[in-house]
Amino acid sequence: MDAELSTASLHGRHESECERVRKDGSRYWAHVITTALRDSDGRLRGFAKVTRDVTDKRRAEEERERLLLELKEAVAARDEFLSIASHELKTPLTSVKLNLRALEHRTEVAAVKTEGEGSRKLVRIHGQIDRLAKLVNSLLDVSRITANRLDFHLEEVDLGEVLQDVLGQFKEELDRAGCSLHLRTDTGVIGRWDRLRVDQVVSNLLSNAIKYGPGRPVEVDLQRLGRSARLVVRDHGIGISAQDQERIFQRFERAVSIQHYGGFGLGLWISRQIVDNLGGSIAVHSEPGLGSTFIVELPLSGPSGG
Ligand SMILES: Nc1ncnc2c1ncn2[C@@H]1O[C@H](COP(=O)(O)OP(=O)(O)OP(=O)(O)O)[C@@H](O)[C@H]1O
Ligand SMILES: [Mg+2]
Repeated sequence: MDAELSTASLHGRHESECERVRKDGSRYWAHVITTALRDSDGRLRGFAKVTRDVTDKRRAEEERERLLLELKEAVAARDEFLSIASHELKTPLTSVKLNLRALEHRTEVAAVKTEGEGSRKLVRIHGQIDRLAKLVNSLLDVSRITANRLDFHLEEVDLGEVLQDVLGQFKEELDRAGCSLHLRTDTGVIGRWDRLRVDQVVSNLLSNAIKYGPGRPVEVDLQRLGRSARLVVRDHGIGISAQDQERIFQRFERAVSIQHYGGFGLGLWISRQIVDNLGGSIAVHSEPGLGSTFIVELPLSGPSGG
């Protein structure tokens, strides 16, 4: 008795799939069910075999696997491109910025600068370079996160200090947008974090508060709660609908149209990756038309209590 029949007689039934050849020589995939037939006393009387041609199903599966492989290769190629492109873009951009600064120090440019027109143009060029640099840095972060290579340099960080730094950098932007700042901080909120990454999270939240709530106050609150730091950034802007609140933390996800608000849909995704890596959490409470509150909690001990 072959293996198929002995399994069927032992378990009552055996199923298998194999390639078969028809009389005309063509090949097909067969799904074969072999059932043991027994009489009322349980004696084996023979076997029933049902063979089904499953070539189409098999082909569809093979096609699916092929497409999946192609998709994986395409995603890998995209990630590699993103990584190379962002590295390559960073070099000339840094050089343009440095050269522009050097030029500004030259006397002839200083003369141009005194005229209002030249000065406004320079401010605009700086603004555009900063925007490009922000995009390139975001793309670099995306490729690092995708490749699981987001590095963290853990050290003792005073979150209040980071907050003051960031607020200093945003002072002009807050003024330009007509946002008054209401700040409340505990002192000595010190933890084991990565200074630049924490700075990035605060900057992303603040730039969103300004972008989506111009002309309205922005409230920032830093507290030490037991063994955690809690940072709250509240605006009184456009708000976010309940169904968008989870989605906006995903990559490239936005709840506004690009015609009305510029952006890449990366700030919150990157922020969440950073906060997750530091063992913390980020959440949002919001009502459309009333504003949004983002809450970040970070354990003082850093990732996994280490
Ligand atoms: N404070 C806020 N008020 C209202 N909507 C917000 C706020 N913060 C974020 N959002 C919504 O969440 C989306 C994702 O935010 P995220 O910061 O990730 O991207 P972005 O601001 O569009 O672009 P960028 O990558 O430049 O930050 C935004 O497009 C917006 O729809
Ligand atoms: Mg943003």
